[in-house]
Amino acid sequence: MIGRLNHVAIVVPDLDAASRVYRDTLGASVSDPVDMPAHGVTTVFVTLPNTKIELLHPLGTESPVQAFLDRNPSGGMHHVCYEVDDILAARDKLVADGARVLGGGEPKIGAHDKPVLFLHPKDFCGTLVEIEQA
Ligand code: CO
Repeated sequence: MIGRLNHVAIVVPDLDAASRVYRDTLGASVSDPVDMPAHGVTTVFVTLPNTKIELLHPLGTESPVQAFLDRNPSGGMHHVCYEVDDILAARDKLVADGARVLGGGEPKIGAHDKPVLFLHPKDFCGTLVEIEQA
């Protein structure tokens, strides 16, 4: 059911410093920061030949990544995102198999203007999983 690895997301305490690490030290192609108020994050996209890295920083007081940053002050890997051909069919299969879909189960528009859903880490080997409509 899952297809390509769309991205790996890393929460960082300092977006400018993280951007410099990826651009200058690792030599990757790095975007400018993009505020995503609906998701409570500011995002920098690192484009690699075969996938992307999303650097995430809290935006606003209700940010879903603030607690993660509080627990991991130097940052850390936050989630992986897999592409699926049909997000509603994927959701229905996951729910039928007993997986927990976060946020009520209705897809939101994600960072790439495509519908996304998040799946409970306890059902997926301790890793928060995002699925994105391909
Ligand atoms: Co993501």
